[in-house]
Parts: sequence; C-alpha cells; structure tokens
Amino acid sequence: MKIDLLSPQSFAAGQPHDQYRWLREHAPVRWHEEPGGAGFWAVTRHADVWAVDRDFQAFSSEPTIMIPDPPPSQADAFGPYKMMLMMDPPEHTAFRKLIRQAFTLPAARLREERIKALARQIVDAVIETGECDFVAELAGEMPSFVIAELMGLPPADGRELYKLTETIHTAPEALPPGAGQVAVMKMFEYATGVIAEKRARPADDLASKLLACEVDGRRLSDMEFLLFFLLLVDAGGDTTRNLLSGGLLALMEDPAQFAWLLADLPGRLPAAREELLRWTSPVIYMRRTARHDVELAGQQIRCGDKVVMYFGAANRDPAAFEAPETLDLARDPNPHIAFGTGPHGCLGQHIARIEIDAMLSEVLTRMTGFELDAPPEWLASNFISGPKTMPLSFRAA
Ligand code: HEM
Repeated sequence: MKIDLLSPQSFAAGQPHDQYRWLREHAPVRWHEEPGGAGFWAVTRHADVWAVDRDFQAFSSEPTIMIPDPPPSQADAFGPYKMMLMMDPPEHTAFRKLIRQAFTLPAARLREERIKALARQIVDAVIETGECDFVAELAGEMPSFVIAELMGLPPADGRELYKLTETIHTAPEALPPGAGQVAVMKMFEYATGVIAEKRARPADDLASKLLACEVDGRRLSDMEFLLFFLLLVDAGGDTTRNLLSGGLLALMEDPAQFAWLLADLPGRLPAAREELLRWTSPVIYMRRTARHDVELAGQQIRCGDKVVMYFGAANRDPAAFEAPETLDLARDPNPHIAFGTGPHGCLGQHIARIEIDAMLSEVLTRMTGFELDAPPEWLASNFISGPKTMPLSFRAA
C-alpha cells in the first residue's frame, strides 16, 4: 500500500480511508517521510490518538500543531507570541481561561435561539431558487455569522474573514506563492481595526472582553489579541462548514439512513449528528512534538520527533467502533474523537453542536429532493477535510 498523508491528492476525494485502514492494521505508529522536513510518526489507532492527545507532558503542542515547522518569516511576524492552540499547560491553561466562559454549555445554550433564527434566515435566502452551492450559500454562512456575532462584528465581515480562513487552510502548493501568508496578514489588518474600534467603543462581545482582560496581571498585547482572533475565526469556520456539507453528502449517498433520520428528525438528530462528526472528521490531524524519549504502541519515539494524530483514522478504528465503515446514525455509544480530547479538546464544541443541529433541522425540514448538479470539489488540504463546492438542486418541502 502506498502511504502518502502529505499530498493534498490523497485527500482530494475525502479522507484516504484505505491508507488509514492499512496503517491501523499493519503499522499503527508509522514513520512518514516529509520532503523538506524531518519526517513524522503517523498515529492512526483510536487508543493511541486518545493517549497522545491527553498526555501533554510527553507530547507538546509547541512549536506548532501543523506538520511543517514554522517558517522563519512567521517568527519575525509573530515575535515571541503564539496561538493558544500551540501552547502547553500551564501557559495554555491561563490563556484558555480567558475565553472559556463564552464557550460553556450554558453560554452556548443562551445563543441557541439566535442560531436557530440565523439558520432560518440562511435557508430563506435560497429556498425559492431550487439550486445552490450548498457549501458557500448554506453551510459556510452559519459559522461565519456565528463567529462574527460572538466577536461583535458585522455579519458580512464574517463572510469575508471566512474566505481568508479557507485560503489559510489550503495546501500552499494549491495556491499562488505566498497566498497563505497574504491571507494571514489581511486577517491581522482587519483585526487591528477591531482593536481600535473595540477600545474606542467596548461592547458586550468577546473581542471587547479579550481586550479588557488580564493574563499574569497585564493586558494582552496587540499581537496576542491578533493571534486569538485568528484562532477563533479559523477554528470555527471551515470545520463546521465541512461537517454540514460532508454530512449532507453522506446522507445523500445512503438513502436508507437518510430516510431513517427523516422519520423522526428531532428525536434522531442528536445521535445522527455525532455519527456524522465521526464519519466526516473535519479536522484531519493535529501534530505534537515529543518532549522526551517515549514508547508508543511498541514504537520508540525520540525526544523532538513529530507525532501526528489522525482523527479520521481513529474514528474508523474497529477496536473502538462496531462496523466502523458503516454509517450508523443510531450508533450508541459513539466515542468519536472528532473534537479531539485533553487540554486542547475543542473549545467550541457546544456551539458547533447547536449550529449543526439548527442548520440540519432547518435544511432537512424545508428542503427536499437533493440532487448533485456536479461532483463536489474537495478542499485541497491535508489538514481540514470537506467539500469546497457542492452544487445541488432541491425542492422546497
Ligand atoms: C464541526 C465543528 C468543529 C470541529 C470538528 C472542531 C474540531 C476541533 C479539534 C479537533 C480541535 C483540536 C483538539 C485537540 O487538539 O485535541 C479543536 C480546537 C479548537 N476549536 Fe474546534 N472544532 C469545531 C468547531 C469549532 C467552533 C464552532 C469553534 C468556535 C466558535 C471552535 C473553536 C476551537 C478552539 C478555540 C480550539 C482550540 C482549543 C485549545 O487550544 O485549547 N471549534 N477543534
């Protein structure tokens, strides 16, 4: 079996489940070459991914959670600062505490009615047309609007920021040279405007709170704010979008499961949503770096080695799931790891679940007769998985 978990080609039609299967069976912690880089260990079994993600003492999120090491230009641009996603406890704990309150289950529930109203509005905008690009016109709208509201920005700006996120997550080889860096810089330029605006007119939103809060007895620096901004916009955008588009595609490809769901949508949606998370696993991987020599599933990992957790592979591990290659919307229990686990476990997961339920409820009760007008085009990324475009026809139900 040819294993290549770096080429965006391997992810051009969804995740490479044949490669994942081979790896889990034959080499669950396997060395992977990396052209231009040091190489990494690919971890594909559920138990091992779970263990690595929770063991921050052995597996660090510094210097980055991406496979390539940060380019020197990034060190110049960010100075000594980094994103919370790339910190370890106790520093990470202090930064996560700054925004944790906005993402608890009760805080997420307070947003539920508003999120449902947004879902209605998003479907209203396309319902008469009979055709749409499901990704851009439906799935992508929800996370863009939600993150804009959380941060206290105009909804249309959320949509623009979202486009930048997509560029940032696209493999550099699929973009014009430097396009990723330009997108990050544009995001920073925008966020610099937010700093000025929210300092002048603080409001009841997360951006204003971040600018007012203290860590280690001092205010956040502008760069720390910019990195928080980038993380929040990036983390909540195409993950949720890809779950919605990839989830609808999975339903269209399995009419029996689709019909089962529609027979009792409110009752069956919670379990179905978890199964769609397992099935699509929008975040392909997170990288860690070994802080000391350590053994993992019989492999000797050396201090400084890169260790990469493949969530989509873990989510199809037969040791953790019965019939893992079958979409079973009633699956219970469903110990999927699509949101990660441990200190970095997805902070936005309660909000994400509310967004997903609101959108799927609205779409599946008001729209019917879905048919693809063209094959979905997949995001050219080895980091985030999902359709980039999904043109389809439908009828109002
Ligand atoms: C289907 C949707 C989503 C998926 C699949 C997803 C998945 C993930 C994953 C896998 C991680 C890393 C976990 C780890 O390293 O163990 C993560 C982290 C994170 N997610 Fe999500 N996410 C989603 C939606 C969201 C949303 C809507 C938001 C915010 C509004 C969000 C905010 C974050 C943040 C801030 C982190 C970093 C947490 C930290 O470093 O402590 N995510 N997410």
